[in-house]
Amino acid sequence: MNLMLTYPRIVFFTGAGMSKESGVPTYRGEGGLWKEYRYQDYACQSAFENNPEAVWNFHDQRRAVTAACQPHVGHELIARLAKERQAAGRGTNGGVTVVTQNIDGMHQRAGSEIVYELHGSLWRVRCDSCCEVSHNLELPLRSRVHHCGNFLRPDIVWFGDSLSRSTLTKAVDAISRCSLFVSIGTSGAVYPAARLPLHAIESGAACIEINPESTPVSQHYQQHLRGPASVMLPQLLGL
Ligand code: APR
Repeated sequence: MNLMLTYPRIVFFTGAGMSKESGVPTYRGEGGLWKEYRYQDYACQSAFENNPEAVWNFHDQRRAVTAACQPHVGHELIARLAKERQAAGRGTNGGVTVVTQNIDGMHQRAGSEIVYELHGSLWRVRCDSCCEVSHNLELPLRSRVHHCGNFLRPDIVWFGDSLSRSTLTKAVDAISRCSLFVSIGTSGAVYPAARLPLHAIESGAACIEINPESTPVSQHYQQHLRGPASVMLPQLLGL
């Protein structure tokens, strides 16, 4: 992992392609979720208000699919890198931060400790009225109703929702201070997340894109590793 020892602070910025080899479907491209389902029917507040049961059936199914998947070597290497760097005296969590658009919890399951989930988590629910948030791993969810009497919804960022301000602030701060920024498996199609790499570029970080395909934001990166995350991450980390 010599390459990684060169950089004081590293951010891994991940999208759905990071978890594809774990078996979690991506959103766009072949086999993508939004090829099969209209997000307007399943992933926005108005869909939830029109038909909460249908939206919950969809998300219960996603929770079941995701729970059956396992983190792959790429997730594990990111977690291991942080631990090895911390043991080598490189500060809290070895100066490694994960900023993810994924809601699947795979980084945490692999052992990553600092993970900013820009789009929330499939494993949290939130009251649609009083907004109380709780962790929930039930399969399927036992009650779709909060104890205050109103519907629970997944604590994820649907189309049209705002990102959590505090999560976004922490992510921007980590990205602005990093010296190496590694984007993995994102199409760069969804804002404001797609704008975050610009903070790394502006602050002079080395920027690497891991993706089998080029993306609309590829030109921002100095290095491109064209292949799947589970192959390219071991290469990048020298394993
Ligand atoms: N390794 C790395 N990248 C991969 C792999 C792989 N094995 N397989 C596919 N990819 C790449 C694809 O080439 C594509 O560029 O992953 C990207 C997946 O793109 P999207 O499906 O658009 O996922 P993402 O960028 O995370 O989507 C952003 O869209 O609907 C929303 O909220 C959802 O967080 C999501 C956001």
